[in-house]
Amino acid sequence: MIDIQRLPKHIAIIMDGNGRWAQARGMVRSKGHQAGVEAVDRVTAECSRMGIKYLTLYTFSTENWNRPPEEVNAIMQLLITSLVEETFMKNNVRMRVIGDRKRLSPEVRKCIEDCEEHTSVNNGLTLVIALSYSSRWEITDAVQHIARQVLEGNIKPADINEQTIAENLESHFMPDPELLIRTGGEQRISNYLLWQCAYSELYFTDIFWPDFDEKALHQAIEDYQQRERRFGKTSAQVKAETEK
Ligand code: IPE
Ligand code: IPE
Ligand code: MG
Repeated sequence: MIDIQRLPKHIAIIMDGNGRWAQARGMVRSKGHQAGVEAVDRVTAECSRMGIKYLTLYTFSTENWNRPPEEVNAIMQLLITSLVEETFMKNNVRMRVIGDRKRLSPEVRKCIEDCEEHTSVNNGLTLVIALSYSSRWEITDAVQHIARQVLEGNIKPADINEQTIAENLESHFMPDPELLIRTGGEQRISNYLLWQCAYSELYFTDIFWPDFDEKALHQAIEDYQQRERRFGKTSAQVKAETEK
């Protein structure tokens, strides 16, 4: 049973396995991405219903630009058709994108900018789409920002601390995820939220993303709630703190 008092505030997901899901059914890979959109809708609605505040979905990595152009185009087209503003407005969802926008086509850029602007008034779930995203890109971009501020004389190098770095990341507006889920069977991070997941609980499942549903999400949250998060302390210390 899920303890609704102890829900993670932020869940991050690596939505993997679309291509294999389609291939196992004799379909082209893009059909898997299409089916993946339905899983996105299910999981977003369920997180919203449960009162989770942030959901970050790894949708397209900077490395994914190296896929065959037909697949990249199919994913970009799908993105345009599936970012339906009306659904976000109806569910009080605020949508934000993190990633290297310079590489996106003007059409995709316009679509996400409009959606971000119109949904910015919502205060329910914040849905963060990691698009043309990689963590090393994000950290490099933050380092450039900080270096410029040093050059302008606004920060002294000795004053740069963890908070300075966190504040200069594009994802500065979201808290660190307590739970990171990866579907599709691989057990790796694939350049996702490396800074932010320093202390996240990792959960891997073999389920391909298009098959991921409410039940699978609940299982991941239940598993997370069984963990003792010690943050370097001893178990006795953690127990004493929770009994306070
Ligand atoms: C994840 O599914 C979606 C994207 C990376 C865009 P994949 O397309 O990686 O599916 P598999 O891992 O090849 O099955
Ligand atoms: C990670 O999946 C990226 C997304 C889910 C968007 P990949 O399928 O691209 O990752 P690798 O290649 O297995 O590491
Ligand atoms: Mg994959």
